[in-house]
Amino acid sequence: MSAMNHPDSNPLPERAILIGVPRVSLNQSRAMEFLEELTLLAESAGAIVIRHIMQNRKRIDPACFIGRGKAEEIAGMVEEEEIQIVIFDDDLSSIQVRNLERMIPCKIMDRSALILDIFASRARTREAKTQVELAQLQYMLPRLTRQWTHLSKQYGGIGTKGPGETQIETDRRAIRSRISRLNGKLRSIQKERKEQRKGREDLPRVSLVGYTNAGKSTLLNLLTNADVLVEDRLFATLDSTVRLVSLSPTHRILLSDTVGFIRKLPHHLVASFRSTLDEVRESDILLHVIDVSHPLFSEHISVVNETLEAIGANGKPTIMVYNKIDLLEDRAIVGHLGRNSPNTVCVSAKRGINMGGLEGKITELLEQNVSEQTMCLGYEDYPLIARIHELAEIVEKKFEYDRITVRFRMNNRHAAKLRKLFARPASGARGHFTESAPRRNGGQ
Ligand code: GTP
Repeated sequence: MSAMNHPDSNPLPERAILIGVPRVSLNQSRAMEFLEELTLLAESAGAIVIRHIMQNRKRIDPACFIGRGKAEEIAGMVEEEEIQIVIFDDDLSSIQVRNLERMIPCKIMDRSALILDIFASRARTREAKTQVELAQLQYMLPRLTRQWTHLSKQYGGIGTKGPGETQIETDRRAIRSRISRLNGKLRSIQKERKEQRKGREDLPRVSLVGYTNAGKSTLLNLLTNADVLVEDRLFATLDSTVRLVSLSPTHRILLSDTVGFIRKLPHHLVASFRSTLDEVRESDILLHVIDVSHPLFSEHISVVNETLEAIGANGKPTIMVYNKIDLLEDRAIVGHLGRNSPNTVCVSAKRGINMGGLEGKITELLEQNVSEQTMCLGYEDYPLIARIHELAEIVEKKFEYDRITVRFRMNNRHAAKLRKLFARPASGARGHFTESAPRRNGGQ
């Protein structure tokens, strides 16, 4: 399966017709906006969208998704307008694809295949490539048909690159065995990643999450002065990037950017991107970035929340970062956004508006996980005292003839580690360790 004539791989764009079959409950303008999103996806994959077609149906036709009459009408358009690909906003069964391909003389593709195709063209690292290939093969397995093989040879281009080219000729058994090899490869990559994370500085972890194109990479660049790929196309970032950010001398964090989410993200993709998404699952705080200038931004928020739930990363302390406020004609909306949640901030990552506000919110949440501790140590416990100096903000130090009492503010995660270190007989520490004035606990 897979792949279009991507802008970055082939100069000749394919001419496409997009088909939306909205549910009866969906109003017309919403349905049109969903088709607009499909347009962005198709363009990201390198197609030129010639036409949108919307068909309201009470019932999906099991044989060809849309009605036969409509399919014949589209076949006429395809010939007349030299269309090479027809893309549906919904998933099609293999029978529907086969029947449609018999009636319409061009490639037929669904939204999942299109998203997988874009992911295939964006994957750069070994991990991302393995994840995408795995998802593509899993998508392809139930759809493998003779008809499909024949068409892929005939048309090439979108939907035929990546692992597809070689796999199409192979039988299901070969694909299954490749899937199991890829799963094994992913497991070992996952293990490596875990090891890498262990070796990292033990700092609070913050992850940027959000709908695709919301501005996560732009924000990461601004907060870290890094140079992460920022592009006005969907899914520019597939691999997670982790950077160190110093918000203040006592508040340093590891900030990571990761793949953007989208409506109807193929579930195979979510499953195979689990190891990349570990970064999000293991974070202390999430920055949920929202393109507030987008007409469907509240739907985007729901999609992101649902995806977070699907990967087991819901319920974490989250800051809602409403981005792109520079594009808002009516700034009054900014006032309304924060009403229901204190953890809300409005910014423009591109123009650098209100970065101080965002950093302040992150610090506030980090502070909720900081508590004041007191340690009584002997003078020979110098290594522990040095460690406290490294990790904590010292509030007070009292020197007595046989001991030092240190009062300090420290992240709870570090405090737990220090406590363990302190309890070890080898530490030789003779004093005691108390949590003196615990602050509010940040619910991690
Ligand atoms: P994915 O990789 O698809 O997940 O995208 P992303 O969320 O990382 O978005 P990215 O930072 O790549 O930005 C997408 C587009 O939005 C780029 O063209 C940015 O320049 C633009 N953008 C980001 N922030 C702002 C903003 O505050 N204002 C405006 N006007 N544009 C922005």
